[in-house]
Amino acid sequence: MIDLRSDTATKPTDGMRRAIAEAMVGDEQKREDPSVNALQDRVAALLGHEAAIFVPTATMANQIALKLHTRPGDVLLAEKNAHVVIYEYGGAAAHAGVMTIGLPGDRGRLTPEQIRSAAEPSSKMADQRVTVLALEDTHNASGGRVWPLSGLEEVVATARELGLAVHLDGARLMNASVALGVPPSQIAGRFDTATVCLSKGLGCPLGALLVGSRELMERAWREKHLFGGAMRQAGIVAAAGLYALDHHVERLADDHARARRLAEALHDANLPIDLEQVETNFVQIDLEPLGRDRPDALARLQAGEVGLSATPHPTILRAVTHLDVTDEDIALASERIPAALL
Ligand SMILES: Cc1ncc(COP(=O)(O)O)c(C=O)c1O
Repeated sequence: MIDLRSDTATKPTDGMRRAIAEAMVGDEQKREDPSVNALQDRVAALLGHEAAIFVPTATMANQIALKLHTRPGDVLLAEKNAHVVIYEYGGAAAHAGVMTIGLPGDRGRLTPEQIRSAAEPSSKMADQRVTVLALEDTHNASGGRVWPLSGLEEVVATARELGLAVHLDGARLMNASVALGVPPSQIAGRFDTATVCLSKGLGCPLGALLVGSRELMERAWREKHLFGGAMRQAGIVAAAGLYALDHHVERLADDHARARRLAEALHDANLPIDLEQVETNFVQIDLEPLGRDRPDALARLQAGEVGLSATPHPTILRAVTHLDVTDEDIALASERIPAALL
């Protein structure tokens, strides 16, 4: 089976397992774990922020961020298929007590005009109002699309002008940074807080970080405890993160090149692929022109020993490249996918 369902499928490499085995550890809750501390310092600097906190998942990082920027009764603005809107089990409402307005995006992007009109002050006497904007880069549901820096700049500037806090769900920030050829700080540095995930393209078994100002991250520690996310000898996992930063960032370009190669091969085999959409490690296949429904297509692919997965769009499947996908896998998948779907 060639597993192209998600870049979360990776297993730790031998080198990463050695780093885990040799990790220096301490009590993370007491902030005494040297590996966690080193990872936090390194990621804060890499993303252009004063401080970082280490958490088990990117979902927890996003949810903590939303709590930091809001009070119950406030409103969150996000693209309507953003992870914080459709995949976090309504956490924004459950944890922060906020209402979410999901705006229709183009390639996961929003415009300054959309932000401006959605953030109009409420006509209520009390202040129900938009207080935070969350953007996602790369944008998962639109196929790993990357925000151009100019677009980000305009939208973030508009949000600031309107007095909103801005959070980046940068679960795949490193993919965006490699695709644009800019340091991650140029993307994440302009936000109040940013999430980065270790367990996707970076190939760690788990872990994510939230970055922000020193003051915000002090408050974030309290939220992390409240979520039950303050750990003990978490350096075991942080060591994997440090290893990934040394060994697995530049190679994301290989994942992107493999996705492009797969897309071109599928396109040449007459599958409906829009090559323009392939900017990072996702390839999207539209089933509609093939006249196949999703369960049928996924079952045929499974039988053909290649795993793809569903997206929020009912007719679109995705193939995602990652650390455990080789050139040979791409060559095989380029044959197996058309054989299953055509
Ligand atoms: C854009 C985005 N944000 C957040 C997450 C959540 O990551 P985790 O599974 O670590 O909670 C994901 C996971 O797929 C994601 O794609």
